[in-house]
Amino acid sequence: MAETAPTVLREDDRDPVLRLVGVRKCYNVGTPIEIEVLHGIDLEVGPGEFVALVGPSGSGKSTLLNLLGLLDRPTDGEVWIAGHATRQLGDVARSRLRGQVLGFVFQFHHLLSAFTALDNIQLPRWAAMGREDDEVRARALDLLDAVGLKELAKRRPKELSGGQQQRVAICRALIHRPPVVLADEPTGNLDTETSAQAFSLLRRFNREFGCAFIIVTHDPSLAEGCDRVIEMVDGRIVEDRPGRAPRLD
Ligand SMILES: Nc1ncnc2c1ncn2[C@@H]1O[C@H](COP(=O)(O)OP(=O)(O)O)[C@@H](O)[C@H]1O
Ligand SMILES: [Mg+2]
Repeated sequence: MAETAPTVLREDDRDPVLRLVGVRKCYNVGTPIEIEVLHGIDLEVGPGEFVALVGPSGSGKSTLLNLLGLLDRPTDGEVWIAGHATRQLGDVARSRLRGQVLGFVFQFHHLLSAFTALDNIQLPRWAAMGREDDEVRARALDLLDAVGLKELAKRRPKELSGGQQQRVAICRALIHRPPVVLADEPTGNLDTETSAQAFSLLRRFNREFGCAFIIVTHDPSLAEGCDRVIEMVDGRIVEDRPGRAPRLD
């Protein structure tokens, strides 16, 4: 099966790549333990923005990211991704859109242990295309080169350090040059120095590829290095301001 040509065309390059309008999210709907964890979120993220999402544990950051990533549906409100309203979309259309316009980096890399670093990066494309592809392989090798791991391309995840595994996961998120990358505590499992390296890698890809990033982080110094810092408390956005750190990179 040939890879379907991207159907995601934005009318205007300045249009937001992500837009939430009046988004509420309840868990356990219709049961005695129903709980509303997002209380009407409005948010726009423009092309190429590098955004930190901060806030205490339980404030709703992962819930918000899951909605933006089309991994879950809002109870109320609309989620726009790259110009597409997603509320009415069925599961097949949602996963196609997800595969075309979104990249994900998680705290735990979720690399498949039976595959090499190089193959882990290519797997999402193989799945989308239904076959292996030389161009995808070349791009995966370029990405590994960019993150300093080309020599380790044939290693399996367990033969790599935690920081190296996370760099492979970052390459995997970027293999299809998505306009938006969502990262939920991508450095949460790494030591300070390795975190800073992984973070500057995200920043570099943001500059080179122009993809927007939303990065959940607990580390204030990393958050302040972003273009924009959004703070959530108890399911609401309480602050939305520019990062304070001067850009050193
Ligand atoms: N699947 C779920 N079912 C019920 N409650 C949930 C579920 N996922 C998260 N929650 C609750 O929603 C709130 C927000 O959680 P979460 O989005 O994970 O916050 P954060 O990522 O900021 O720590 C918390 O009170 C959490 O307990
Ligand atoms: Mg979380």
